[in-house]
Amino acid sequence: MNKDKLIVANWKMNFLYNNASIFCKKISSKRKSIKNKFIICPPTALISKLSLRFNKITFGAQDCHYEKFGAFTGDNSAAMLKNINCKYIITGHSERRKFYNENNVILKKKIKSIINANLVPIFCIGEDISVKRKGNTKKHLLNQLINVLPKNNKKKIVIAYEPIWAIGSGKTPKIEEIEEINLYIKSVIRKINTNYKNTKILYGGSVNKENSKIFLNNNNVNGLLVGGSSLDFNTFYSILSYKIL
Ligand code: 13P
Repeated sequence: MNKDKLIVANWKMNFLYNNASIFCKKISSKRKSIKNKFIICPPTALISKLSLRFNKITFGAQDCHYEKFGAFTGDNSAAMLKNINCKYIITGHSERRKFYNENNVILKKKIKSIINANLVPIFCIGEDISVKRKGNTKKHLLNQLINVLPKNNKKKIVIAYEPIWAIGSGKTPKIEEIEEINLYIKSVIRKINTNYKNTKILYGGSVNKENSKIFLNNNNVNGLLVGGSSLDFNTFYSILSYKIL
C-alpha cells in the first residue's frame, strides 16, 4: 500500500496573524509525531510572516496570477509567492472558478506559470450536483484535465478531486466512488503525459476526523485537501497524525 500521503490545509480567507501563528507553533512543536507530509496554505497576506518564523513548515498559496509582473492590481504572481517561500500553489479551486470566473483558458496559463516558477500546482477539479445527477462526472473531469494540463511538462503536479457538492456541505462521496474517480483521473492524466504517472490524486470536500481515516486508508487516495477541518488545531492534528494501517 502507498503510505506516502500528502495532506493540504486550505485555510481559505480565515485567521489573522495571531491565531495563525498560534496554530503553526502548535504544529511545529508536534512535527516529530506527525505521520503524513503536510502543507499549510494560509491567506496570502499572512504567508511571508509565517514562513519566516516557521521555516520547518511547508507553505503553499491559494491562488496566483498567470503573469510574472504587470498592471494587475491586487494580484500576486507565482514568482512572488516563491519569493516568500511558498512551495505549492492551489489553482482551479471551485470558489475561484465561481467567484472569479476562472476557466480552462485562464487555468492553463496559471498552471504553466506555477511550473515555470518551479513551484508545484495543486490543480482542483470537480463536478457540481447537476453534472453528477446527469451521470456526466467523468466527462466533466476529462474536459477540465485535457484542456488545462500541459502535455510536455516534466515537473511535478498534484491533482485534487473536489466534488463541488461536497465542499462545506457535510456530504462526501462513498470511498468506492472516490476510488473509481481517482483511478479514472490517473488513467486520463497518464494519457495526457506519461510523466504524470506517479502524480498524487488528493480528495477534498467535507473531510473530517472520522472520514479522513477511511479516505487515507485507500491506496488510490494519495492525500487530502482539507478546508473547515484544517482551521481547528486538534482536528487537523488528528488527521495528520493518523497512522495508515
Ligand atoms: P471543506 O473541507 O470545508 O469542505 O472545504 C474543502 C475545500 O474546498 C478545500 O479546498
